[in-house]
Amino acid sequence: MTNIRLAAVPDRRFRADVIAGLSLPQKRLPSKYFYDAAGSRLFDRITELPEYYPTRTELGVMRVHAREMAARCGSRCQLIEFGAGALTKVRLLLDHMETPAGFVPVDVSGAHLREAATTLAADYPSLDIEPVVADFTVPFDVPDIDAERRVVYFPGSTIGNLEPSETDDLLRLIARLVGPGGGLLLGVDLRKDIKILEPAYNDSAGVTAEFNRNLLVRIDRELGGNFHAASFRHVAFYNASLSRIEMHLVSDVARRVRVGSTTFDFRAGESIHTENSYKYDVNELATRALRFGLRMDEFWTDAQRHFAVLYLTATEPTRTVSP
Ligand code: AVJ
Repeated sequence: MTNIRLAAVPDRRFRADVIAGLSLPQKRLPSKYFYDAAGSRLFDRITELPEYYPTRTELGVMRVHAREMAARCGSRCQLIEFGAGALTKVRLLLDHMETPAGFVPVDVSGAHLREAATTLAADYPSLDIEPVVADFTVPFDVPDIDAERRVVYFPGSTIGNLEPSETDDLLRLIARLVGPGGGLLLGVDLRKDIKILEPAYNDSAGVTAEFNRNLLVRIDRELGGNFHAASFRHVAFYNASLSRIEMHLVSDVARRVRVGSTTFDFRAGESIHTENSYKYDVNELATRALRFGLRMDEFWTDAQRHFAVLYLTATEPTRTVSP
């Protein structure tokens, strides 16, 4: 395993994003900043919660269908995982893959990625693993190796965190990255009863609340803030008209908060919008992807249709015929 390419999200970028987000009329913080070392560990705990169905459902779908998914990837495939996290799911794929050419886990959390990649390397000694620390929403380089095809593995419904326009940008980026004949194996959380959706983001043990507040803990520590996270209330609900879970942090009292030398005023009851988690419909997503030259060949889901994994192939860019 080669060394990890260094920190792609510089501190000043974090600061600029935080200040810009908190200056909006509806205060916002980008959810990608949840994942510092503590946040990544909290997320791993979320995936074990009884109410949080997505991870175990996706794992179930992977366990049943990994062989078919690996067959779609084909032999001598360079597998590139976006938002790599704990690297649990990819093992199911790797176990069934015919002579993989290489594995490139990509994640913003360098510490977490290093740990996970080291553990994976011990279990797959002959696999060429080249971790890349990067924000995958911005174009980045992937080691150019001799492979039959590139396949991006984007599990965990991380795509749900992106706004529709960002999703379009990412689909375009992936189609370019893998090239014609390459693939995208995409895990997406599906629309379902609000009685299942909402508890998944309001667990009784309070881990999601801690995960949400950790963003403020991180700002206080890294950017010299004085949020005092404990005094913000975790709120999560399903916004049905936009098909998304929204997470917020609410200040029940009016207050002034400082981030470095910049101050922000909160009215009593004002919130910071910290995350959207979009829920999809398979056909709608397939139609969307087709606009960027990604054709859905097959998808797999659980009996309750809570979660789906889609395999899409990058086609030759389609020509727009002008009248
Ligand atoms: C990692 C984006 C899939 O939206 O369900 C979990 C993040 N936030 N609980 C999700 C999350 C709160 C998670 N994703």
